[in-house]
This record gives sequence, C-alpha cells and structure tokens, in this order.
Amino acid sequence: MNGRTDQPLRLGVNIDHVATLRNARGGRDPDPARAAQLAQQAGADGITLHLREDRRHIVDADLSAVMAAVTLPINLEMAATAEMQAIAVKYRPHAVCLVPERREERTTEGGLEVAGDDNRLRDYIAPLRDAGARVSLFIAPDEAQVEAAARVGAQIVELHVGAYAEHCANGQSAECDAELRRLFSAAAFAHEIGLEVHAGHGLNFNNVGPIAAIPEVVELNIGHFLIGEAVFIGLDAAIREMRRQMILARM
Ligand code: PXP
Repeated sequence: MNGRTDQPLRLGVNIDHVATLRNARGGRDPDPARAAQLAQQAGADGITLHLREDRRHIVDADLSAVMAAVTLPINLEMAATAEMQAIAVKYRPHAVCLVPERREERTTEGGLEVAGDDNRLRDYIAPLRDAGARVSLFIAPDEAQVEAAARVGAQIVELHVGAYAEHCANGQSAECDAELRRLFSAAAFAHEIGLEVHAGHGLNFNNVGPIAAIPEVVELNIGHFLIGEAVFIGLDAAIREMRRQMILARM
C-alpha cells in the first residue's frame, strides 16, 4: 500500500478568520457562510471550520448557516470535549477533526497527544463514527502518534505542518529538510497502515509545494493565509492560485 494514492489532492478552505474579522466589530459582516459559498464557486473541495470552546471566531450559528449554504463536505475541527461531541452528533458534519485546544494559544500550536490517551479517545470517537462522521486526528508527524491514531479508530490523520512552515520560512536549512523528511515518512507510514493522510497549518503560496508533493497526502486544509490574501486579491483568486500551486507541485 506504500506510495502514491492516485487520488487527486483536495483543498479544504478554512473560513475561521472571516468570522475573526466579523467578530472584531460585531454584527454580521463579513459573513462566513458567504465565504463558504464563494469558496465552493472557486473550486474548493471542502469547507473547514473550527468551533472553539471560547467561540473566538466561528460560533454555533455559523456551523448551521455554513452547512445550509454549501453542498461541499464540511470538516468540523474541534477539541475532544463532551460539549463538542454533542454538537458534532447533532449537526453530523462529513468529517470531524480532533485538535488540541488551549485557551491561551493564538492558534492550534501542536498536535494532539493520542499515544497515552488511547482509552479515552477510543470511547470519544466511537459515537462520532456512529453519527456518520469520518474522524481525523490532527497530529505531529510522529510514528507513535500515527500508530495510536489507528488504534483509537480514526480513519484519517491530518499532519501538523506548522513546524515545517516555521523552519522553512527563510528557505532551505538543515531543520527545514529534517522537518520535511519527518512529514514524508509519517505520511508514508500512515498510508501503509491504512489511514488517509491530510496536512495543514501555516501553508501559503510559497511553502505549499513540497507538502502538496507528498504522494500520500490527499487533502490540504488552508485558512489564515487564504483569508488574508483575499483582502488583496479576493477570495476567488486566492483559492484558484492555491489550487494552481497544488496541481503544479503534484505533477
Ligand atoms: N488544519 C487544522 C487541523 C487546523 O487546526 C488549522 C487551523 O489552525 C488549519 C488546518 C489551517 O491552518 P491555517 O489557518 O494556518 O492555514
């Protein structure tokens, strides 16, 4: 099972920061559901949103509004709490991605600690799968975490590429190469043991290429950069350019 999956590389557009902008003023604008519709028109393969415990960007009403606004699969990112489990079971998104969450962090800083939390996560995931969701775990590119993800019943791992984005921001370096090697090897291992492989965090036009070129990766979830770029060139153009870069790298 090792190697290229022959599946096209999907782009999930994360619209959280449309809500960040709206919440800066209160009121309704800009509307995340409209962003989701535009993303769909621009050729996104899915819409990703992170309902945080503190509701700092997406709020519960956004989830239902976005689900009603598009036909694309919805990927709900959330912490593994009882409250979020009840919400996921109620709304039944296409996929649920479990992420670590700390109130004081600005964004999701690390991967989920799956190894060592097996029993709790296995029990947590079962009702999500029963509700029809594909369950993904956002983890560091680490073999022990990948193995644990399979053990607890996840179907997907999303590899956290934040360290890659950081180490490779100023071009090639030993750290950058090492981080890429970790990602390639974690992706190959995950695929080999039957997990679907996604990747995300901190991707932009400059750094998406090497990640899109990892043969086992079949989905990228990208948010902050796309929404920021939309301020300058529009959301449609930003998504289309990201897609172009992904296709180029995949060839
Ligand atoms: N994937 C996951 C699991 C995330 O939590 C996030 C947001 O932190 C992203 C992808 C998108 O990251 P970014 O907004 O940096 O593109």
